Amino acid sequence: MTQNKKLLAWVDEIASLCKPDEIYWCNGSQEEYDNMIDLMVNGGTAIRLNNEKKPNSILVKSDPADVARVEDRTFICSENEIDAGPNNNWFEPAEMREKLKGFFDGCMKGRTMYVIPFSMGPLGSDKSKIGVEITDSPYVVANMRIMARMGTTALDVLGADGEFVPCVHSVGYPLVDREDKTWPCDPENRYIVHYPETREIWSYGSGYGGNALLGKKCLALRIASVMARDEGSMAEHMLIMKLTSPEGESKYICGAFPSACGKTNLAMLKPTLPGWKVETIGDDIAWLKFGEDGRLYAINPEAGFFGVAPNTSAETNPNAMASLQENCIFTNVGLTEDGDVWWEEMTNELPEKLTDWKNNEWTPASETTAAHPNARFTAPASQCPVIAPEWEDPKGVPIDAILVGGRRATNVPLIHEAFNWQHGTFMGSIIASEKTAAADGAVGELRRDPMAMLPFCGYNMGDYFAHWLKVGKTEGAKMPKVFYVNWFRKNSAGKFTWPGFGENSRVLKWVFERCGAGAEANETAVGYLPTRESIDLNGLDIADADLDELLSIDPEAWLAEVPSMREHLEKFGERMPQELIDELNGIEERLEAELGCDKKAAC
Ligand code: OXD
Ligand code: MN
Repeated sequence: MTQNKKLLAWVDEIASLCKPDEIYWCNGSQEEYDNMIDLMVNGGTAIRLNNEKKPNSILVKSDPADVARVEDRTFICSENEIDAGPNNNWFEPAEMREKLKGFFDGCMKGRTMYVIPFSMGPLGSDKSKIGVEITDSPYVVANMRIMARMGTTALDVLGADGEFVPCVHSVGYPLVDREDKTWPCDPENRYIVHYPETREIWSYGSGYGGNALLGKKCLALRIASVMARDEGSMAEHMLIMKLTSPEGESKYICGAFPSACGKTNLAMLKPTLPGWKVETIGDDIAWLKFGEDGRLYAINPEAGFFGVAPNTSAETNPNAMASLQENCIFTNVGLTEDGDVWWEEMTNELPEKLTDWKNNEWTPASETTAAHPNARFTAPASQCPVIAPEWEDPKGVPIDAILVGGRRATNVPLIHEAFNWQHGTFMGSIIASEKTAAADGAVGELRRDPMAMLPFCGYNMGDYFAHWLKVGKTEGAKMPKVFYVNWFRKNSAGKFTWPGFGENSRVLKWVFERCGAGAEANETAVGYLPTRESIDLNGLDIADADLDELLSIDPEAWLAEVPSMREHLEKFGERMPQELIDELNGIEERLEAELGCDKKAAC
């Protein structure tokens, strides 16, 4: 166990509040993991998959009311509302504590309370953080063992005096005069609560994903973003990849993209360009801290992938498929007749029949999907065939470039590079995805998601932008270059103009060259764009008109989008740094100059 007095006292305090039948300290062993699986299988929560198809793997089906992160039930309870900002739901902390006390009082009756010590980041790295999650869910224990370095090793790092982030979780279904359910939860009373000043997390009523695996979004992003602000580092919703040229030179790249924009696919990409290699360091979260050389070094705080299953296939992401052949937990996918898993788009050929995620019989004629759209796989990162050898290096990897982007059918070119860090911060602040593709070229409905952090920033987004700017001004800082990419441009016929997937290696090659020996670029009002000659298009068959659109900007269309960017930035209110408004003004002025008009005159 532990000699850490603070931890022992806290566990006692939570136990007297939650009143479990038993307390169990997790050691992180294989035997313990197997026991959790047995518990779930015996209780009907999990089904063991066919050992010949998916060795040592299970399928779990959640309550249909508990299938995703619940942003409207996620709270940042800072002392002052302004510190949570317009990007978060705020609640007065003392009142929230009272409210939660009511829910947590006796919430573990009839259950075991598990104490999970874990390290986010390689054990003992100066960039890692220790957390301890208390939960009444064996599903959470098993997932945490895949997603974090969990158990005795984390306790050893914590030592007698170390600091930890306390995380309390309950499914909210005490066993008082009632039977257990296969997926206990309390969907009417979900609370995912963060106290940024005291760095605590309390989660009630949900057993799913980011609501319950508290090391991930709650600690590694919301609380870690607050810690990073105070420590002069960064905690970001970014993949980390290693890109190696045919000459054997490597660069490390981070990428911030909102959900459903292919972060996992990019992190594990199979380049089509001969001789180029991509290796994975992380697919979702990056913590970046300055090294003595002034460069930002990144670690992946996680140890596994908690990936969206639907649309993952041997075509879209063969390395992800290879990562989940064994030792996995699948949640809310379909079960085939031979005891394997299936989800939409996994194979071209559809199974004739299976059991869907709601336990109903499913055939290709069914009107519902076999898997829930947010069905997940939990897989150890070490199983990824292209995991980089240095993915657990406690030093982290020095970052050369940060990519930002979203899904844009219109306006945004294939790639453009920021003039400098401030401009790059601006680029990140306005990234957006179109909800619907605008086939006629009109701008569709946009959801702007700054740095892909809108649901994950644990404080005021205006302060977060200011923090990015401050980090860039750190003495001796050698900041990464920032690039805005868009794989999702469509032409007037509504067809994607860029093939994407492995062909994105052509864009990565340009990034690599811009970060090193140099590749040619055109300076435009919005940033540097590749010249046609500087981007390797060998063997690609793309219509000339489409290439023109991919590699240029339309000043009129950009100018038409300026008001929506301004409106978006102004939403962050009084804490919005003027520098980013200046960047927008600068873009507007350059576009107007190019079009030969000015603000007052209609263009
Ligand atoms: C995730 C997300 O689960 O961003 O990674 O929603
Ligand atoms: Mn994510």
